[in-house]
Amino acid sequence: MKIGIIGLGFVGLSLASVLGSKKYNVVGIDSDRKKVSTILSGKSPFYEPKLDIMLKKALAKSLQISSDIQFATSNCQLLFITVGTPPSKDGYIDLTKVKQVAKEIGEALSKTVNKPIIIVKSTVAPGTTNEVIKFILEKYSKKKAGVGFGIIANPEFLREGKAVDDTISPHIVVIGGNDQKSISRVKKFFLKMHGNKVPLIETNHQTAELIKYANNSFLATKISFINQIASICQSLPETNVEDVVRAIGLDPRIGKLFLKAGPGYGGSCLPKDLQTLIKFSSRIGKKPILLEAVRETNNFQVRNLMILIKEALQKIRGRRISILGLSFKEGSDDIRESVSIKLIRLLLKKQAKIIVHDPKAIENTKMIFGDKISYADSVKAAIKGSHCTVIMTPWKEYSNLTNNDLRLMKRRLIIDSRRLLDRYKLDAEYHAIGIGE
Ligand code: UGA
Repeated sequence: MKIGIIGLGFVGLSLASVLGSKKYNVVGIDSDRKKVSTILSGKSPFYEPKLDIMLKKALAKSLQISSDIQFATSNCQLLFITVGTPPSKDGYIDLTKVKQVAKEIGEALSKTVNKPIIIVKSTVAPGTTNEVIKFILEKYSKKKAGVGFGIIANPEFLREGKAVDDTISPHIVVIGGNDQKSISRVKKFFLKMHGNKVPLIETNHQTAELIKYANNSFLATKISFINQIASICQSLPETNVEDVVRAIGLDPRIGKLFLKAGPGYGGSCLPKDLQTLIKFSSRIGKKPILLEAVRETNNFQVRNLMILIKEALQKIRGRRISILGLSFKEGSDDIRESVSIKLIRLLLKKQAKIIVHDPKAIENTKMIFGDKISYADSVKAAIKGSHCTVIMTPWKEYSNLTNNDLRLMKRRLIIDSRRLLDRYKLDAEYHAIGIGE
């Protein structure tokens, strides 16, 4: 069996590399020739732990990389669509890439007798697979879904920074479709890949699509909930949100995961998917009261940080402020929707002098701010001479800051959005999200 994977971002490249490393006959397709040549040299175009090793293994075994959708459509039995669906200007999702790929597959289908199953992994709003993608495929192939090709919705749940592990052992596989033959074949593929330990949920297209949005929106809700509690803690002397989480997390109905209060969630998925569900819900006439509150709570977190900084510094203008951490989470160089970037924008507006550090995301950040801010290649260099250090991303090295290091600062003032440091051991003025003073 040959498998095609169209779109080599986090999801597609991880899947292609994991399958290739297990000797599956895989072809990874991307229209970006530069990306293709980087991948062919054994390097991932973005930072993702373990991916380079997996990719090299896969290339040495059975992974081909190409830009040829016609070849993949004529030769593969399973064809995954894993292109991005970025946010659109109107607060929904931009389906340009998905539609383009569907058109190209459709055209290719019209020239082949092969009957692949097209598996939509890209995150798309409920109804998209059946109403938009299927329509385009049928139009350009002049073939009927369920006869000339199969179509399945199969949302992805991997996390950036854990993409390889999550591809190897996902917590769930969701298969959405309406022709039993395609569902059974895709089910067989995943059973072979993961064994029968991974729960497999079989449903229709639109439910599969909704599951993805419900999943990410619930995660966003957990984070906003705990951030709301964190705000309350900040106004209650001697309280720490960590103690609250330790207790409520022991209630099995709540659980302890995804309850880390912080600067607010970022990244290319949680904010976008929540926003899409808000829009979708409104479009079908269901007022998204809770979802809007989740979004608003998240947006407030950066203001919460600004208030902490302002109260502690009094004057921001001309002050040298060190920002530790730029990526939206540790283990990643991704700065999409990163709260650090939003905070830097606000501080620049107030005419602060910004110096930043991040183990992986400096290059991406340079593309946004250029020479408007300074970049440090070590944590010590970042905090030297500064009036305030703000910890944003929970990279391990920031937990190791010592009192000796802090003496490099002009004023020993720490704003800790992730509570990485122990305020009782610090010889510094310390303010944190979720800690009452
Ligand atoms: C998220 C989901 O976790 C994945 O299951 C999903 O597949 C993915 O989106 C996607 O749709 O592609 P990801 O964006 O990689 O994964 O990042 P998360 O680990 O979910 O973190 C998102 C943000 O929430 C980060 O900014 C993180 O710092 C923040 N966060 C997370 C918290 O503030 N507190 C927490 O307890 C957990």
